[in-house]
Amino acid sequence: MSLKDKLIAEKLPNHIAIIMDGNGRWAKMKGNSRIFGHKNGVNGVKESSEACAELGIDFLTLYAFSTENWSRPKLEVMALMELLISTINSEVDTLMKNNIRLNAIGNLSDLPKKAYEKLMNAIEKTKNNSGLTLILALSYSAKTEIINAVKLISENVKNGEMDINDINEKVFENYLYTAGIPNPDLMIRTSGEQRISNFLLWQLAYSELYFTEVLWPDFNREELYKALFDYQNRERRYGKISEQL
Ligand code: IPE
Ligand code: IPE
Ligand code: MG
Repeated sequence: MSLKDKLIAEKLPNHIAIIMDGNGRWAKMKGNSRIFGHKNGVNGVKESSEACAELGIDFLTLYAFSTENWSRPKLEVMALMELLISTINSEVDTLMKNNIRLNAIGNLSDLPKKAYEKLMNAIEKTKNNSGLTLILALSYSAKTEIINAVKLISENVKNGEMDINDINEKVFENYLYTAGIPNPDLMIRTSGEQRISNFLLWQLAYSELYFTEVLWPDFNREELYKALFDYQNRERRYGKISEQL
């Protein structure tokens, strides 16, 4: 029996978030450039999104580029932006074929014009697909997202459109980039690093965390099934005790 067959359909997460890490180290191990690692990282994106679509998972959020990543060497940043454009070009048909709807969160206006336009076109083209929603976090910072929400809410209060007492967790969530998207049930980080790196700070409050040593270009369906199997053997207590569940 393969690992996939051992998964219990009713206990699959609704939303998986992944910090795709380790492209640079993967390339270095092979004596190649970091950019070569990023190119091969597209493999992990395809594998994980197709596997999620097949399993009937509703949301997959992939951390593709953080606001902090703008500080990397210019050549690497440019190569990542080019890769974003070429991947959208080559993969839109696959998204359509697999009924995947593309979405994006982050400070998207920071992206180079061409990348921004490609992304918007792909989002528009796939908007009526009804299977998996694939969300790319691009130029993303969770702290910026939260500050942004605070500013929008403050503006509403200042204009008299909202009362301070109306602010609660549910309302606050409507002002995040992820408004309308359920919080991740499972967060995976590859490459052995065990930190959040400014990813979905609010949304991960009660997510199950899974860390694997596998470097992102080597992440495939089987690795995803491993993470899901691990997830299904956890008890999500939300502060209660076992007997209450
Ligand atoms: C993740 O791989 C991809 C991005 C952050 C864009 P890294 O490029 O961080 O790879 P390592 O961590 O240096 O190995
Ligand atoms: C986090 O990875 C960002 C993405 C995966 C896009 P990094 O490799 O940039 O994070 P740190 O620097 O190790 O925390
Ligand atoms: Mg890294």
